[in-house]
Amino acid sequence: MRTDAEAAPIAAEAFTDRFGTAPEGVWAAPGRVNVIGEHTDYNDGFVLPVALPHTTRAAVARRTDGRVALASLQGGGALVELAVDELTPGRPDGWAGYPAGVVEGLRDRLAGGVSVLVDTDVPVGAGLSSSAALTCSVALALSDLVAPELGRTDLVELARRSENDFVGAPTGILDQSASLLCTAGNALFLDTRERRTDQVPLDLAAAGLELLVVDTGTSHTHADGGYGDRRRECEEAAARLGVPALRDIADVAGLAGLDDDVLLRRARHIVTENARVLEVVRILRGSADPRDIGPVLTEGHVSLRDDFQISTVELDACVDAAVGAGAHGARMVGGGFGGSAVVLVDRDRADAVAEAVRTRFAREGFAAPRTFDVVPSAGARRIA
Ligand code: GLA
Repeated sequence: MRTDAEAAPIAAEAFTDRFGTAPEGVWAAPGRVNVIGEHTDYNDGFVLPVALPHTTRAAVARRTDGRVALASLQGGGALVELAVDELTPGRPDGWAGYPAGVVEGLRDRLAGGVSVLVDTDVPVGAGLSSSAALTCSVALALSDLVAPELGRTDLVELARRSENDFVGAPTGILDQSASLLCTAGNALFLDTRERRTDQVPLDLAAAGLELLVVDTGTSHTHADGGYGDRRRECEEAAARLGVPALRDIADVAGLAGLDDDVLLRRARHIVTENARVLEVVRILRGSADPRDIGPVLTEGHVSLRDDFQISTVELDACVDAAVGAGAHGARMVGGGFGGSAVVLVDRDRADAVAEAVRTRFAREGFAAPRTFDVVPSAGARRIA
């Protein structure tokens, strides 16, 4: 993980090497870890993410030949190039589809074309929003260069449309909002229906706490299967209950009309998860010990495992080992079916808890996980 001051010249130099001219600037956007509020975003519910210190950097310059050129240092600098007119959902595909979708969203302003080089230290496919870091870094760059009237919430939409309509991943707005709207030292409370945000101070160090991310190294991708299935199940549950979205169900008693067991489980997760977000915000905003959010996080994991059914053996083992070794709470994060877990632990127990997870993984024959500590960091910004 590099600081802005270290990362900006690397991206700028690589851009110059690749394209033969200097970039007009370099922009950075972070990945995120969600403290609580999983799969609630496309149900008009509540979320509470923090931005990671890890970012994706985009070095960008406009062109005059009507072409879009996209390069990634992680792809060995390989170039994807096509005419602005040729941009269409699915073309280009792969990683380049994410920035291409953002360019496409502003194509009227970018008739001359644009070159983009990206570099990242956000773990890819780990449930930490590497895709939003990519789209949001490019969205902020392009808005600074050609659409300065766009505000941050417009950029959330621009980045979301790239992912939903261009790449074809049916996500909500959690990741893009976190990447663009989070501020250092705070978690971002977002009401996804009202689009209301509130910065919730989260000074873990002052409380002697660490938020440990455990990347299980098992991958997930949202463009296929499970994520879309869950989204459809939630919509079906809301339709059967006669409400616009599951957000409109205040408590589990409101689910009495659902006679399908699968739909009941899905809906129960959303209803209880929304309540957990509000509970965590209440604890963090009040005078209570922030450690008290731990059990709420673990309840969230149980709900994702048993009701939403998107956890994995690795994520379950991680939560079990971490809590067994004295963590205050732990849960899987992100879309599910692999990726990372987050663990709330006393600073002086963090090494022991991480070691307990590693030992458990070795015993189960799982690949060694990667762990790192998260400091709630700043949202997207220009860095050069
Ligand atoms: C993915 C999606 C988000 C959100 C989470 C689950 O990260 O991109 O929109 O639905 O899964 O909370």
